Amino acid sequence: MVTARLLSLAGLVSLAQAFAFPEGCEPRQVHIAGGADASKSLSVSWVTDGSECGDFSSVSYSSDGWTKSVGNAAPSSPTRYNQTTTKYGTYVSPYLWNCELPDLAADTEYSFAFGATQPSPPSPPSPSYSFKTAPSATSSPSSSLYPTKIAMVGDLGQTSDSASTVANIAKEEVDFIAHAGDMSYADCDHDRWDSWFDMVEDVSSNTPWYVVGGNHEIEHSDVDGEIFVAYENRFNMPKIKPAEMEPFTGETSCTPSAFLGKYDWGNSFYKFAHGPSTFLMLNSYTDSAPGSPQYAWVESTLAGIDREATPWVFALFHSPFYNSFSDHQGEEQQILMKSSMEDLFIKYRVNAAFSGHVHGYERTNNVAHEALDPAGPMYVIIGDGGNREGHASGFLDSTPPVWSAFRDNTIFGHALVTLLNETHAEFTWEKNVAEGVFETADSFIMENQYYL
Ligand SMILES: [Fe+2]
Repeated sequence: MVTARLLSLAGLVSLAQAFAFPEGCEPRQVHIAGGADASKSLSVSWVTDGSECGDFSSVSYSSDGWTKSVGNAAPSSPTRYNQTTTKYGTYVSPYLWNCELPDLAADTEYSFAFGATQPSPPSPPSPSYSFKTAPSATSSPSSSLYPTKIAMVGDLGQTSDSASTVANIAKEEVDFIAHAGDMSYADCDHDRWDSWFDMVEDVSSNTPWYVVGGNHEIEHSDVDGEIFVAYENRFNMPKIKPAEMEPFTGETSCTPSAFLGKYDWGNSFYKFAHGPSTFLMLNSYTDSAPGSPQYAWVESTLAGIDREATPWVFALFHSPFYNSFSDHQGEEQQILMKSSMEDLFIKYRVNAAFSGHVHGYERTNNVAHEALDPAGPMYVIIGDGGNREGHASGFLDSTPPVWSAFRDNTIFGHALVTLLNETHAEFTWEKNVAEGVFETADSFIMENQYYL
């Protein structure tokens, strides 16, 4: 995979030099995410300045280097969103494109390019990108399911520290990235979404990148009350059904730390399976009480996971259940979600839950209701991506609680989960040393509580 990617990038450079898209049709901000079953489908998203792109309104893809097996998929019609706030006025987005590549083969390296493939001999219609589908959870040998490498990041932003974190994740050559919310820190200045997608494109165009909404994705408009507009429109996660959302009519800032609104389905909460793992991607900022759509969906989803097929189950949501820093204590969304969902996580042996919000790193021991319990999940705060707000301010108490295994608020970085087999995974926290240079600062072997 290393060699293939390097060749692909080299080809991309030489083709890009010789290739010109029609005016207004050059794809920018390319980002991909696997489907609900990442062995079968993939979503390609990009933006353009224009909407009339003819042949370049589709995506071609090939599993054999453009020699004979070539598919072509049409995207949904390009959309735009706009938001008006008192501070920034009205922003209108570029044209947002999304194309689902269906019926892919599992565990297969693909190339994709924008435009209709030239038929004889087949050749990429434009500079090409590459990705690899997940192995099939049910029909792959163990040797292709393991190891599965996953990068975890949160509260990334777009500073030089953010760029270091992205460069370091790129060097890991992971199978996919899971982002626990707070991506761009656009904070209602939507041009900053464009610059964020530019910053991550080298990675996001060839590594599936899954996200959940943090409070910096709320982006409440003080003019019409709309929330999560950029987040719902710019990302294309494996949706269960279209978003159901309502404007928030109360007084609040653009990105309130504590918040509860109405935003269900869509990119708000969803799941995906990648090889031997199932991820529940949740929203801290919509209702999670028993009886809510999110709670009912989490309960039925956890009850229905085939742990023989995907023995590893993880949850991501922005606002952490366990946090011994002094920042972000006692917020309403955090209290509600922990009180309603912790028992589900324990009952169904969720292996670990990853959050952000607090701009530090903290790993817990396996814990249930504040007591050490080998059946309970491990909780990890990975809000140390490197955003402009800096590090968490300090700790509630200089003596860590019994459940806190490791914590730091001085260094930015990312976490890496390597699934080794059905029963064991390696977890590490990788601190930034410089752009492209990092080192392991915390290391832990996880045992799968499902088999206890
Ligand atoms: Fe946050």
